[in-house]
Amino acid sequence: MSARAPGKLFVTGAYAVLDGHPAVVLAVDRYVTARVVEYEHASTRPEVVAVARRLDADVPAIDASPLEERGRKLGLGSSAAAAVAAAGAILAFRGEDLDDASVRRQVLDIALAAHRDVQPRGSGADVAAAALGGAVIVRKSGEGLDASPVTLPPRLCWHALALSRSMRTSDALDALATRSSEREVARALAAIAEAAHAGEDALQRGSAEEFVAAGAAHVRALASLGQTLDRPLAPPELDRARQVLGLRPIAEGAADVVLLPSGAGGGDVVLWLATRAPSDDELVALAKAGLEPLRLSLSSRGVHRADAGDAERKEMARTSRIPGFFKLSVEARRRAIAESADLNMHELDAAISHGGLDVSTSDKTIENVIGVYALPFATTLNVRINGHDVIAPMVVEEPSVVAAASNAARIVREGGGFTAEADEPIVAAQVQLLEVHDVEDAHRAIEAARAEILAKADAAVPGLVARGGGARDLRARTLGGPEDQMMVVDVFVDCRDAMGANLVNSVAEAIGGRLAELAHARVGFRILSNLCDRRCVRVRCRVPFEALATDDMSGAQVARGMEEGSRFAELDSYRATTHNKGIMNGVDAVVMATGNDWRAVEAGAHAFAARDGRYKPLATWRREQNHLVGSLELPLALGIVGGTLRIHPAARLALKMTGARTAMELAMLAACVGLSSNLAALRAMASDGIQRGHMGLHARSVASAAGATGDLVEKVAKRICELGDVTVDGARRALAAELDLPPTSTTVLAE
Ligand code: MEV
Repeated sequence: MSARAPGKLFVTGAYAVLDGHPAVVLAVDRYVTARVVEYEHASTRPEVVAVARRLDADVPAIDASPLEERGRKLGLGSSAAAAVAAAGAILAFRGEDLDDASVRRQVLDIALAAHRDVQPRGSGADVAAAALGGAVIVRKSGEGLDASPVTLPPRLCWHALALSRSMRTSDALDALATRSSEREVARALAAIAEAAHAGEDALQRGSAEEFVAAGAAHVRALASLGQTLDRPLAPPELDRARQVLGLRPIAEGAADVVLLPSGAGGGDVVLWLATRAPSDDELVALAKAGLEPLRLSLSSRGVHRADAGDAERKEMARTSRIPGFFKLSVEARRRAIAESADLNMHELDAAISHGGLDVSTSDKTIENVIGVYALPFATTLNVRINGHDVIAPMVVEEPSVVAAASNAARIVREGGGFTAEADEPIVAAQVQLLEVHDVEDAHRAIEAARAEILAKADAAVPGLVARGGGARDLRARTLGGPEDQMMVVDVFVDCRDAMGANLVNSVAEAIGGRLAELAHARVGFRILSNLCDRRCVRVRCRVPFEALATDDMSGAQVARGMEEGSRFAELDSYRATTHNKGIMNGVDAVVMATGNDWRAVEAGAHAFAARDGRYKPLATWRREQNHLVGSLELPLALGIVGGTLRIHPAARLALKMTGARTAMELAMLAACVGLSSNLAALRAMASDGIQRGHMGLHARSVASAAGATGDLVEKVAKRICELGDVTVDGARRALAAELDLPPTSTTVLAE
């Protein structure tokens, strides 16, 4: 039995809450898990032991690692969340329902009392957030605590940022305890209390602007308290960041954007508080000033069962929108994806750190193995399909494919995301019949035995039939002229969640003999067809013109160019081939990541593109009432069971990341990423041309190839782009210049 409780962030009211003033606290989506387990795993955390003692129960095990980043505590209230999770797990173990508000209040009371047993000075606001979730206004009342949930104004934007170094200010509380009666200290505390009341009032009035103003007042008061105590409570990074963002110093009064250190001390999180989100450029500038983006969202739920299955999955409400993701370190990206896709960090690390496959497993997979070949594993963000966010795992070696798809998916999001539908997962088993002397007679006999053939097909795949799949239909066709005496019988098999090659081949082999008997013919090939035109996916997006605009062109101009590009592909097979290659950039990367057979997908897609006898684009684009509408249709035989997934942990993890519950859902995702890739390519060609963006990214691998490492990769890449010389020689010259070496010496570095 496990329970989870969220961490917290203080907004206003730190310090003041200790004197009975209101604090605004947010529960955030990093969770401590408590598990009622065997004795030897019991936690030794004093607050958890105190909870167990108060409930006369065994001490649960605790996992608080999600509240840390790179081995460093973020100050998200892990001990409060641990106490709450522990109380939750014990009560749930005793049959209490954590979805019942009165039980959560009971958890709050127990955790509060236990927490005070070990930390008598705490306000309890962190315990309240962990127990109740959401945004909470908390104030002390006598020995107890008033905690009421409050709704944040819709216009309020908050983003968490992590200080790149640790800032411990917990000793400020000791200093405060001895000096609170001093005039200057009392004045600063009064200002913090005033900001706390202003914050409460603003939330109760639902005013984002007033809440931001209260945040600014809080930061000013905190800075002067720090000055008085001679301990900086607002880190210097905040002023530096304001400077680089071109914002007035907070001390000068009203501010549209507030950078607010969360909490009273011991925390390394700073909040961006404003009525707008930071732009990607601002996030980059903030990171340079020492404030790195940290993916945290409001957790709507307080303490809850961790093993609640579907309900919990829904609660996790995946988001595929993670601003500034590309600027994060690889580890921080992993954490962000783990949080968004509800993956376990350890599982994620283990599965993808080194490509996910070892030599001995590879050796059992194919023949003549001599090693393992790795490719980059990335994620395309921003994808929204039929109203749900989905993270797309991508395995691809080509620079700019992932960035382009993510960027295009963000544009599509502005029009509400993709709509998608998939056919049932039907694949044809083909039986070739030869020496058919009387074709008409053969057709009649096969048609008359339809039920018998379908039953025979089902009998060959009993496991599939048990999972709801099986043979659905049969079609006999004459091939060639009378001299060929050839027929084919296609038996259509519903493969459910399997890609289906093995199943369908088994069907073909099982029914071949009987079909030959019926047709008085000789049986030839018995194999699946990879042209799965009954297993198609159709996806569509409708993008407002504005979302397509570039620095130099209006959205309407870009949309026109894109439609013209679509027509070009519709009229010319040479262009259609490249157009479709761009689509397959996205499709294949998802297919590869999830361990599916990309050769089958490729073969099917291109055969489908040529189904009318001329090779055509799989996706087309048209302008409709100030929108550009894109539609893509292609066959996609993907599986979410069996095959590579059995042996490849990275493929299993990739699949889990998508959240796909059926093969059809996975196919819709791959197709949406394909349409994103196509949008990105067409938009680039209708505006700046493909090389500008492409070269920017390509330059990094060229810089590495020339021997640049660490920071030098970006510097050299930037330089060769500026010079328009994205070649290894150009990169060597740029590297030599950076290192102050003669131009030829870096050849040696690269070799
Ligand atoms: C490059 O990998 C793909 C493109 O050539 C696709 C296209 O031309 O549409 C950019």
